[in-house]
Amino acid sequence: MDAQLPYSEKVMDHFTNPRNVGEIPDASGIGTVGNPVCGDVMKMYLKIEGDIIVDVKFKTFGCGAALATSSMVTEMVKGKSIEDALKVTNKAVAEALGGLPPVKMHCSVLAEEALRSALKDYYKRQGLPVPFDDKEHKHEGEKCV
Ligand code: FES
Repeated sequence: MDAQLPYSEKVMDHFTNPRNVGEIPDASGIGTVGNPVCGDVMKMYLKIEGDIIVDVKFKTFGCGAALATSSMVTEMVKGKSIEDALKVTNKAVAEALGGLPPVKMHCSVLAEEALRSALKDYYKRQGLPVPFDDKEHKHEGEKCV
C-alpha cells in the first residue's frame, strides 16, 4: 500500500483485516469486474434467499484501496434486500471508510460494479430481466466519467 497517501484508520483496518474474503461454492450470483485504469480485478459471490443477500464473499487481485472497499461493501450489503443493496454506491462505500484519497476513488468503483455484476448474474440465472439500470461507467484516460 502506498504509505505516503493519507489513508484513514478504517481503510487501514479493512486493508490489513479484510472481511468476507473467499468464495461461496453454491453462490446465487457471481460477478467479475476489471478496472481498465489499473488492471485490478474483483470477483464477488452472493448467496440470495428470497430477496435478501444472506451471504457475500469476495476475492480481489488489486491495490489496498480496492481490497478495503471490497471488504466494506460486503459488510454494507450483507443481510440487506437486493433493493437496498443497489442503493450502496461507491461514494457511500468510500464515506463509510472515512474517505479515500482522490486518486484512489476509482478503486471504489470496482466494488460497486462487482456487486451489480453479481446481481445481474443472479437475475440471469433466474431467467428474469435485470430490474436495474446497467450503468457501466466509462473512462477518459485515468478518470472515471
Ligand atoms: S489501483 Fe487498481 S483498483 Fe486501486
